[in-house]
Amino acid sequence: MASKEVEFSFSSPPLSSTRWWCRDTVAVVTGANKGIGFALVKRFAELGLTVVLTARDVERGNKAAESLREQGLPNVHFSPLDVSKPASIQTFVSWLDTTFGGLDILVNNAAVSFNEIDENSVEYAETVIKTNFYGAKLLTESLLPLFRFSTSISRILNISSRLGSMNKVRDLNIKATLQNERLSEEQIEEVVNLFLQSVKNGTWQSEGWPEIWTDYSVSKLALNAYSRVLAKRFQGSRLSINCFCPGFTQTSMTRGQGTHTPDEAAEVGARLALLPPDHLPTGQFFLGFGPYNKSKL
Ligand SMILES: NC(=O)c1ccc[n+]([C@@H]2O[C@H](COP(=O)([O-])OP(=O)(O)OC[C@H]3O[C@@H](n4cnc5c(N)ncnc54)[C@H](OP(=O)(O)O)[C@@H]3O)[C@@H](O)[C@H]2O)c1
Repeated sequence: MASKEVEFSFSSPPLSSTRWWCRDTVAVVTGANKGIGFALVKRFAELGLTVVLTARDVERGNKAAESLREQGLPNVHFSPLDVSKPASIQTFVSWLDTTFGGLDILVNNAAVSFNEIDENSVEYAETVIKTNFYGAKLLTESLLPLFRFSTSISRILNISSRLGSMNKVRDLNIKATLQNERLSEEQIEEVVNLFLQSVKNGTWQSEGWPEIWTDYSVSKLALNAYSRVLAKRFQGSRLSINCFCPGFTQTSMTRGQGTHTPDEAAEVGARLALLPPDHLPTGQFFLGFGPYNKSKL
């Protein structure tokens, strides 16, 4: 994905003029009880899709879905989903199959970071990798048989971060591995394991990993790499896989700091997820906001 970063802006055609979806179009958003995920569910629902708001905490998830239904959006449904727990993923996939018989859009949004803005602890590296990378990957793989592969093209939008861009990696061997055109999923996991091992050894600071929010950045680096491999796997089929960095957004993850609101980030995210089939790329990394939106990796 590194060499294919694409600029995206509000100058794209208005969503109303490119509507291809209907009430039967099903979108699933992970980690959607708050922040950008919640805002994305709201935007999808306003636009008339059927939306599954998922959250790891039943009470928080139910409350979030209920608040949207109370705002006149009856097309929001809640289902529990903890992406870091394979059993929860399995239960969710069965529920989705039984309830809707398939899906058209998956937004892998759920993620964690345990650092303050200016901190760089890797104390929770395993949880960060397990949630942000393996969670998104296992859910995606489990849902693949349920995508409808319709003529409108099914879509996966992975909410990533520019912190996981290839130019943040300083070790040339790791960079070369991840940039290889024939990169495999096994190699991505080897890189992730290398990182977790270096955390255990206490050597991670001197080994050329990304310098800011290192564990989180490695999780997004792996998610980007996996997205690229998956996009290649499904090249020419009716499934598009892209990544989106929403920029510095005011959410719990940033302790409320940021240059824009979750609603603004979600507006861009929804536009990307709903691009008309004939304008929908695959294997791309979109930067929605900020001074970096014109940079190429
Ligand atoms: N905010 C930014 O500046 C920024 C920048 C670049 C990328 N991003 C990305 O944007 C996405 C949304 O983040 P945000 O800023 O909206 O953060 P947020 O407000 O902290 O929301 C994160 C969401 O993920 C959920 N979550 C965490 N672990 C989970 C798990 N194991 N299973 C299911 N859900 C889980 C959280 O649920 P709980 O409420 O239960 O914790 C919460 O709903 C993330 O992928 C993040 O990496 C954010």
